[in-house]
Amino acid sequence: MKATAKAHTNIALIKYWGKRNEALILPTNNSLSLTLDGFFTTTTVDFQENLTQDQFMLDNKPVKGDSHQRVTKFLDLIRGLAGKENLYATVHSKNDVPTAAGFASSASGFAALAAAGTKAIGLELDNPELSRLTRQGSGSASRSIYGGFAEWEMGNKEDGSDSFAVPIAPAGHWDVRVAAVVLSSTMKKVSSREGMKRTVETSAFYSGWIDSIPKDLVEIKDAIKTKDFEKTGSIAEANCLKMHATTLAANPPFTYWHDATMRVMQTVQHMREKGIPAYFTIDAGPNVKVLYLPEDEETVQQTLRNIPGVTDVILSKPGQGISYL
Ligand code: ADP
Ligand code: DP6
Repeated sequence: MKATAKAHTNIALIKYWGKRNEALILPTNNSLSLTLDGFFTTTTVDFQENLTQDQFMLDNKPVKGDSHQRVTKFLDLIRGLAGKENLYATVHSKNDVPTAAGFASSASGFAALAAAGTKAIGLELDNPELSRLTRQGSGSASRSIYGGFAEWEMGNKEDGSDSFAVPIAPAGHWDVRVAAVVLSSTMKKVSSREGMKRTVETSAFYSGWIDSIPKDLVEIKDAIKTKDFEKTGSIAEANCLKMHATTLAANPPFTYWHDATMRVMQTVQHMREKGIPAYFTIDAGPNVKVLYLPEDEETVQQTLRNIPGVTDVILSKPGQGISYL
């Protein structure tokens, strides 16, 4: 009972930042992302009758502790759906994405685990069902089921049955590019999970953040549909700044930004002043993702590489949804 699946990470243009139910991973707002072809996870799940517990290998190393527990808890959901509560698995996963550094390894990781795990145990889920399940591993992972642009609908039911992602436009709709600007691949101090919890509970700016989301979503969906790059980029950049502003008003306050994060942000704004349309967005980490158009690739890449503190620049096109290998 073995299956292998591949899933890509996604970058949120409208951020998911807050839960209304932590156990079920139900968000306080809709979010919208672009799946990236440059970062992905490949996971093989093998359910075996003779195992007495799950084994999790990440990049060929056995994983224990919290990360192992997250995988086991997620496999429990799959076992529950299949009615095979005592069937354990070996999980071999490879991250072609830095782990826990704000590059959304949890998104590609749980999307690949959901796809491989359900297939291996013999479940046939459609995409909404798979997205709903994946959400319970990591919220942002619910969007990685789809290629291109996807929206995670928060839903309003208490059991979470209406909280899953839907496709907005496939990868082939629009060739926008994303440069991932690597400043630091080290593990971050405040996980996205912990950071959003602290923000929901204590940030003086949280209600302002929530109130601003519906308008951003309507406008960015229209901009994506009409391929209006300036509008898409400026809404995404402003939405990112609002999300990060909430962390500064939390108690205790915190920020994911480093000095080099600010240098990249300023450089992107300078590029715009020189007529190159480029926009940044940042998840729960110091690294920056820059949106740009294919014709500006060389200039954008060179400019970003020259910023002090930048260790790498990885270029991505829109990526595909989950696939089975
Ligand atoms: P990131 O920015 O990388 O998503 P998070 O702290 O949100 O950082 O999530 C990282 C966590 O996601 C890891 O500590 C691990 O528990 C989980 N994770 C990462 N990659 C995988 C994978 N391939 N399979 C299962 N879980 C994974
Ligand atoms: C800033 O999906 O990692 O990247 O649901 O607790 O696993 P959990 O959180 P996670 O949070 C992602 C937060 C974000 C914004 C986004 O991707 O929408």
